[in-house]
This record gives sequence, structure tokens and C-alpha cells, in this order.
Amino acid sequence: MSAILPPEQRVWWKQPIEPIEITWIVVAFIWGLIMFLMMPYWHVFGKQNLANEAYRATPEVFVAKTQAMVDKYQVREETDQKIPVVRPPAGSDVYLIARLWQWWPMLELEEGQSYKLHLMSLDWLHGFSLQPENINIQVHPGYMHLLTVQPSKAGTYAIICNEYCGINHHTMVSRLYVVPKK
Ligand code: CUA
Repeated sequence: MSAILPPEQRVWWKQPIEPIEITWIVVAFIWGLIMFLMMPYWHVFGKQNLANEAYRATPEVFVAKTQAMVDKYQVREETDQKIPVVRPPAGSDVYLIARLWQWWPMLELEEGQSYKLHLMSLDWLHGFSLQPENINIQVHPGYMHLLTVQPSKAGTYAIICNEYCGINHHTMVSRLYVVPKK
């Protein structure tokens, strides 16, 4: 039977299946099952999958919470844009705004401590990409991501936007500081 020419017998679906075709259907089905089971398996045992929660949030509320954290825990300013660097206490809620075209503020976290990271866009879709760890999260407007993070190694990490978000997308870069435990 050909896919291009009409079938010789009009009731083609009542013909017996070729054994080789059955073999391929079984192979594809088993492979599909394996791929399906890999999703929960990899979520639990893969190291790179994030277990995050998402909540609806408004930009106003998110900005207010972020501003409150900055007012309380700012330690310095960096870059020409005078981005505040914030060092919140271990275990606290930390906020990071994505907007055209910056990450605000910069966070300075302590190695080995756990933080609740809240992540949200104020305008449209951005991508949170932490390098060189290669942790990637889509950041949506109207939704806040909540992740528990525990930086394991001190150092300066780069945050870049990896969703195209307009003319200055390439300038949407920032840093995440992880400092050794005191
Ligand atoms: Cu924000 Cu690209």
C-alpha cells in the first residue's frame, strides 16, 4: 500500500497487519512509556530540576515587598544603574524583579544557607538563567515563582535573561553573590 496512491482495496484497515509493523508499534509504545516514566524519575533523582511553586501576584504588591527588603538589607550599590546589592538574613524571603531590562536588586546570599526566592516579571516574559550552574526558569508577568534555594558554593554567578524581550534583551544581565559562611 502506498501513502500517495489510493489504496487498492477500499476497506484497507481490515487487512492483517504486517508483523514488522506490530514490532515497531510495540517498540514505540515501550519507548514512550520509558520516556514518560523518566519525567517523575528525573524530577526526583536528577539534580537540575527545580521543584517550584507559582502564585498569582500583582506587580504593585511584588514591588512593595522587594522595596521593603532593599530598604532593610541593602549593603551597597553596583554598576552605572546603581543597582542595590542586598544581603538578606539566612532563611528569609528574598525577592528578585525581572523587568525591561534589568534584574533588581542584586542578591548576596550566604553559602550553605537556605532562602525562599520569589521571582516575578513586572512587564513581560523574561528568562532567569543562572550561569555557570545553568539553572533556567521562565519568568512570567502576573505569576510569582517561589523556590527554595540553598547555594552550595561561594562565588559570583551571572544572571542573564534567556527569553528574547526586546531591543535591550542582551543588556539584561546581573550577578548573584554567594559569600562564605561567617
Ligand atoms: Cu528579559 Cu530578555
